[in-house]
Amino acid sequence: MVDTLQEEVGSRRTFAIISHPDAGKTTLTEKLLLFGGAIRDAGTVKARKTGKYATSDWMEIEKQRGISVTSSVMQFDYSGFRVNILDTPGHQDFSEDTYRTLMAVDSAVMIVDSAKGIEDQTIKLFKVCRMRGIPIFTFFNKLDRQGKTPLELLAELEEVLGIESYPMNWPIGMGKDFVGIYDRFHNRIEQFKSEGDERFLPLNEDGELAVPHELKNSPLYEQTLEEIMLLTEAGNQFSEEKIAKGELSPVFFGSALTTFGVQTFLDAYLKFAPAPQPRNATSGEVNPVSNDFSGFIFKIQANMNPKHRDRIAFLRICSGKFERGMSVFLSRTGKPINLSSSTQFLADDRATVNEAVSGDIIGLYDTGNYQIGDTITTSKEMYQFERLPQFTPELFVRVTAKNVMKQKHFHKGIHQLVQEGAIQLFKTVRMEEYLLGAVGQLQFEVFEHRMRNEYNVEVIMERIGSKITRWAEDEKVDESLHSSRSILVKDRYDKYAFLFENEFALRWFNDKNPDVKLYNPMDLR
Ligand code: G4P
Repeated sequence: MVDTLQEEVGSRRTFAIISHPDAGKTTLTEKLLLFGGAIRDAGTVKARKTGKYATSDWMEIEKQRGISVTSSVMQFDYSGFRVNILDTPGHQDFSEDTYRTLMAVDSAVMIVDSAKGIEDQTIKLFKVCRMRGIPIFTFFNKLDRQGKTPLELLAELEEVLGIESYPMNWPIGMGKDFVGIYDRFHNRIEQFKSEGDERFLPLNEDGELAVPHELKNSPLYEQTLEEIMLLTEAGNQFSEEKIAKGELSPVFFGSALTTFGVQTFLDAYLKFAPAPQPRNATSGEVNPVSNDFSGFIFKIQANMNPKHRDRIAFLRICSGKFERGMSVFLSRTGKPINLSSSTQFLADDRATVNEAVSGDIIGLYDTGNYQIGDTITTSKEMYQFERLPQFTPELFVRVTAKNVMKQKHFHKGIHQLVQEGAIQLFKTVRMEEYLLGAVGQLQFEVFEHRMRNEYNVEVIMERIGSKITRWAEDEKVDESLHSSRSILVKDRYDKYAFLFENEFALRWFNDKNPDVKLYNPMDLR
């Protein structure tokens, strides 16, 4: 029994793709799903993306699709592995859920547009992965277009993100002149324009790289050889240990659109990415192959059907085997719960899941039992997994109830939604006004919608824009430090924080008040 569980868990690879919008995440995801046979047609994932469900018609589209989250988690089998890809939405869908999703994966794939280099959103997501110390694989995309040189890209990766890199392959040319890649790992050249096995050029009889036909006597080939020599002599050493700790990123070059380098990437990724690892809980480490079933909720998708107020709680399984109808404890309350309805998310369709193991993600129908961060387990010990971090909000609104007679519902709604992790709440010290903080605009829209539909309260949200949040040590803070450019607030745990108008206001404050130590629990800016 344990053996098969061990084998099953050992075959799991659970990751998220992190990127800045337009780097090619959807395209790469689609290509991976095609390899895995999870979808038949290119365009399936893309069609969902262009649904533009970030804006105000998001909820409407949710309804039309029944359950919209089908593309939040995608699963496929490939070469003896069961791969789970978790979506990390970008654009306006960007929310705390995006960050929390990274708590549920065992590794991350960072896709970067080679022409643009490392962009803002990638940096933020990267930092969350770094904080967790999980392996990060890099895919420099769009090699079929002219972009920054591979050496520039590597330097940027190391400088901007502060991570060592090891190129698993190296491009020969780029854009119009893109010939292919030198696969350092298999010691062969993979040619861009060839099909099937002819794509690969192994070493020649002298153990040297074969010259692709179109490169005979070309200076590009000489240049590539020089670069490869430089990498071998001056580049980082390959180290599986460093990869596992997230200190060294294996780097791949390719073109998702033309499916070039994608399979090479997938094969190497599956080889070096970790299966589910033990996770810390209040009782000590929980082993993924332990017989006790356990997992934690990292995301709650609300209001699929406003009539029933039903929600789906996303559970990352951390140990044991899920079986439909099993009885578990909710550690926070000690309450037993029967897991009779569960959903597995596939790219094409939603299916009922009967069995799943550590590394898998399942959706549990929720009638209000779960909060983000909750642990469920069959263990009588009722341990809890480490608390999910609170992410530093960047966008703020001032919120009031439209109808003053609805204060009671207003407060109840706000407090429940805050506790559930949908949004963060602050109170200004001066006026005791409620401010809501979020990392993405969508969180406000969901909040407004849920207040109306679940608590019957219309809210007025007044934008106060983006702010830099810094917490402060309580002893040193007094109300005189409040100003319009450094708004003094208390968070929901009654801790002081300042909302700074911009970097300048923050620096100015630091200069004027060197005694007040400011800190940012999650330095994601
Ligand atoms: P995202 O999910 O990260 O936001 O990016 P997505 O895959 O949607 O890709 C963004 C754009 O970049 C798309 O073009 C896509 O076709 C293109 N793209 C992705 N990978 C490659 C690549 O390897 N090479 C090149 N040249 N382009 C690539 P679009 O014009 O915005 O969309 P579409 O009209 O092609 O669908």
